[in-house]
Amino acid sequence: MNQGPIGVFDSGYGGLTVLKEIVQQLPQYDYLYLGDNARAPYGPRSFETVYQYTLECVQWFFKQGCSLVVLACNTASAKALRTIQQNDLPRIDTSKRVLGVIRPTTEVIGQYSKTKTVGILGTNGTVQSQSYPIEVAKFFPDVTVYQHACPMWVPLVENNEYNAAGADYFVQKDISQLLATSNKIDTILLACTHYPLLQEKIKQYTPAGITILSQGQIVAESLKGYLQRHPEIEARCSKNGSAAFYTTDSTEDFDSHASIFFGKPVQSSHAAL
Ligand code: DGL
Repeated sequence: MNQGPIGVFDSGYGGLTVLKEIVQQLPQYDYLYLGDNARAPYGPRSFETVYQYTLECVQWFFKQGCSLVVLACNTASAKALRTIQQNDLPRIDTSKRVLGVIRPTTEVIGQYSKTKTVGILGTNGTVQSQSYPIEVAKFFPDVTVYQHACPMWVPLVENNEYNAAGADYFVQKDISQLLATSNKIDTILLACTHYPLLQEKIKQYTPAGITILSQGQIVAESLKGYLQRHPEIEARCSKNGSAAFYTTDSTEDFDSHASIFFGKPVQSSHAAL
């Protein structure tokens, strides 16, 4: 049987915050990370564009020998995952699997809220797709979801401005706009894998008593469960404890930013899609 690494994908650097947690929980596997930095951000792009870009990247992972790919990007999970699972995988290869980050998160989110009122912060694409309200309603019909898009947060993070005063302005503004929609929100989900880098500022502008959730740990736990429940997929994942990093843009830029997200030095290679 052909074994290969587990693919982890994001439009840019954000998925590294998820990969970091996955590697911590499942260190035995090999991982292949791809950031489509040349075409990031995905947040403001149309369904069709995000779908086309994501599909190209998923096919790249398959060419590298991956049997399992995690879309560690909410925007791609919201706009492309279902079509890839339902229309493309049956045509490309029925033995391949592609997973996202929205389902694992919505499966558990209701457990964190006492008031049954959750706030979601994400990109325009994720918010407009309505994926979170739809998916949360399936698992927690008694939970009310309020969403707010933060279009400036990904550019702040991608441009290394997440510690700057400009970030304070946008974080404070967006959190207060979300909280103005309901005074019952007791849990805020960072539904974008870039946002954990703004965590300190987010905490600073969020009233005490509100839980701030990021997805890395949740997604890693869910992947662990998935591999246990699907031994046929697990058997196709190679186990040498390695991680390789690819970007569609400049590797120098990638390496200098990526370590901040991943928490360790990163040396990437260029991916030609
Ligand atoms: N990291 C992506 C997400 O989780 C968003 C980044 C982008 O807009 O490209 O939604």
